[in-house]
Amino acid sequence: MEQLKTLIRGEIGRDIIFLGTVDSTNAFAMELAEKGAVHGTVVIAESQTRGRGRMGRRWVSPPGGNIYMSIILIPPLRVKDATLLTIMAGVACCSALRNTTSLSVKIKWPNDLMVSGKKLGGILTEIKSGVEKIIYAVVGIGININIKMEEFPPDVRATATSVREEIPGEQSRAAVTAAILNELDHWHRILLTKGREPLLDEWRKFSSTLGESVKVIAGKEVFTGIADDIDGEGMLILKLPDGRLKRISTGDLTILR
Ligand code: BTN
Repeated sequence: MEQLKTLIRGEIGRDIIFLGTVDSTNAFAMELAEKGAVHGTVVIAESQTRGRGRMGRRWVSPPGGNIYMSIILIPPLRVKDATLLTIMAGVACCSALRNTTSLSVKIKWPNDLMVSGKKLGGILTEIKSGVEKIIYAVVGIGININIKMEEFPPDVRATATSVREEIPGEQSRAAVTAAILNELDHWHRILLTKGREPLLDEWRKFSSTLGESVKVIAGKEVFTGIADDIDGEGMLILKLPDGRLKRISTGDLTILR
């Protein structure tokens, strides 16, 4: 992974901290950010003992060549635009994985990286917010690269996959990681200079969700309908059976077939 540094082209990834085992790279990066780490600082671990997933879930993080990394961003964005960072990370990961592995990776709203209907990776963004503005954000990315399915706990096997499971042979974790960091740098610049539309358009291209009949569990509520679009804040616009449009900020989405 040390060769990674030679592959970095932008601001994101200029400072990389490599760790063996850590509780969670997100927790570690939040502490670093609190101590004043600069925009673009990256934390990468070989394994995590308390990997965090969305909605308080765990992220199974055994050693053996997967990506567990967190990126500190200090974007000039409002708190209500925080979801855009997850959208941005989804686009960066999808693009990087497509270019380095040739797998046809898609994004299931809000942030699941999918291949052949199985989950290859996920993104968890955590922020520290001021009254209106984001003070810093930590974008956590977990991607299954070289893990074999038998190394996953049984309950995860049916729904998860890894690059190795999809394409035979050892995969270059450094190449994928560098591509993600370079794509993130690119899309962060686009977001700041050209606004959110180019990013949202790219996300729409990679989406496995739009146009599909879906079920979304959002807290205690369950909605079914057609996933119509995402809005400027990354919320899902669901067309309900009676034709009304419902905006959902976060939830668990299943594509109904
Ligand atoms: C999800 O639930 O889909 C999001 C999973 C995010 C996992 C990554 S692994 C690196 C970073 N550190 C964490 O503790 N979680 C994220």
